[in-house]
Amino acid sequence: METIDLVEDLRARVLAWRAAGEALAFVPTMGNLHAGHLKLIDEARARAPRVVASIFVNPLQFGPSEDLDAYPRTLERDRRGLQEAGCDLLFVPQVATIYPRGSEDQTVVDVPGLSEILCGESRPGHFRGVATVVCKLFNMVQPDLALFGEKDFQQLLVIRRMVEDLAMSVEIIGVPTVREADGLAMSSRNGYLSAEERLRAPTLYQALMRAARLLREEAPIEMVEREALAFLNESGLIPDYVKIRVADDLRPATAADGNLVILGAAYLGRARLIDNLRVCRDGRSR
Ligand code: PAJ
Repeated sequence: METIDLVEDLRARVLAWRAAGEALAFVPTMGNLHAGHLKLIDEARARAPRVVASIFVNPLQFGPSEDLDAYPRTLERDRRGLQEAGCDLLFVPQVATIYPRGSEDQTVVDVPGLSEILCGESRPGHFRGVATVVCKLFNMVQPDLALFGEKDFQQLLVIRRMVEDLAMSVEIIGVPTVREADGLAMSSRNGYLSAEERLRAPTLYQALMRAARLLREEAPIEMVEREALAFLNESGLIPDYVKIRVADDLRPATAADGNLVILGAAYLGRARLIDNLRVCRDGRSR
């Protein structure tokens, strides 16, 4: 597997593959790779003869008081994991390559509505940073398809909307969440948890599972959200939100909606955990 940090070299490689008629799948990441990321590479391999991954800790998607400097950087280990997973090329741009005029002076991509709710409410500007960097990476890599984890469900929908609104010719594939044995969704930020916090971390997934059961039993939506928040509080997590939304576009769900997603975010020590669970209720028109 080749590692490239210059856009010109990346373009030359991609052009050669394209000339040979080989489709290209792309997996953007911020590194510190775990089995969730590697599942995206597996899925990419299964769908295209060429796979490109990127590792770029994107300053534009971190708030001023967030963990940009502390974000774990483990390039050598990541390279080995990607190589073993069968990735063809790793793109590792410098910040100055992505933001040559600085991130303040950068043309941005704003996906309205979807970017301002849920995680976007607690992390203003976060999804602008995500959409902007993913747009730039798409233009640099020019993939036929790109894979994103359902673990970051709101991010996946923001990217889908950007691609649709800006008529980008990239197929977006969502990949189910990879979990630890106790249910905790794998995340680079799980490393921030102390041993004691790690034991309590699966509570978020448990709260979502309980909520899913209650929803299937036709409990009222607001009651289910309240119950999940109380469960998190009792377990010593500090909930940011638990919301039941329509899975297509994250609008608030009503009793008539069948295609639902329960989304949750909670603070535990230094970590902000997020997770979500899809719930399909039969017999609904939508
Ligand atoms: P990062 O957090 O490194 O995640 C890279 C990709 O891996 C995302 O699509 C994310 O949803 C997916 N992923 C993370 N944990 C997962 C898990 N447990 N199961 C399945 N997939 C998982 O998300 C980002 O980076 C950035 O915002 C990025 C899209 C790269 C833009 O900077």
